[in-house]
Amino acid sequence: MRPTPDDFREAVSRFATGITVVTCVVDGVDHAMTANAFASVSLDPLLVLVCVERESRFHEAIGATHSWGVSVLPSDAEQTSRWFATKGRPLEGQLERSGHHRSPRHGVAWIDGALAAMECHTHDIHRAGDHDIVIGEVVELKTAVPESLEPLLYYRRNYRSLRLRDAE
Ligand SMILES: Cc1cc2nc3c(=O)[nH]c(=O)nc-3n(C[C@H](O)[C@H](O)[C@H](O)COP(=O)(O)O)c2cc1C
Repeated sequence: MRPTPDDFREAVSRFATGITVVTCVVDGVDHAMTANAFASVSLDPLLVLVCVERESRFHEAIGATHSWGVSVLPSDAEQTSRWFATKGRPLEGQLERSGHHRSPRHGVAWIDGALAAMECHTHDIHRAGDHDIVIGEVVELKTAVPESLEPLLYYRRNYRSLRLRDAE
């Protein structure tokens, strides 16, 4: 028997990820979305990808702009992740709930306290079922110090924290 979407969800939820907030600005309005379908792709050029549900509001926004931001969330940013994953939240002012600042180049929003933040320029968009794979070239980035900052993790549909093996 072929796997069902529920079987699939259960299986892929076993793959632990970090969490990002992806942002962009369209006609002066900030858009943002929580995304864990994020990955690094290439070193030459520097490419990353994010998978964006085609039915989401953010899908239209990212398709309408060339520049977008990625913020990798720290462990204390669960509320931020929940907020940018809330369907129907107001678009205007949605970024005011979490501190943010602007990337130097094109002013995409970066979430304050992010472990890493990137400005990307769309390199390619590939249709993949009900999502689009948006590939971006990283043109600006910032990495948080100190390096001991902890990531927010997502595993089996729950938020988690990192526990180092040698601390067990
Ligand atoms: C932990 C987590 C990870 C998510 N990852 C993605 C993702 O990678 N791609 C995606 O399209 N939606 C993802 N979502 C769902 C979106 O965050 C959610 O649909 C959001 O409301 C989209 O923003 P919009 O309503 O403004 O379009 C994720 C949700 C959560 C809670």
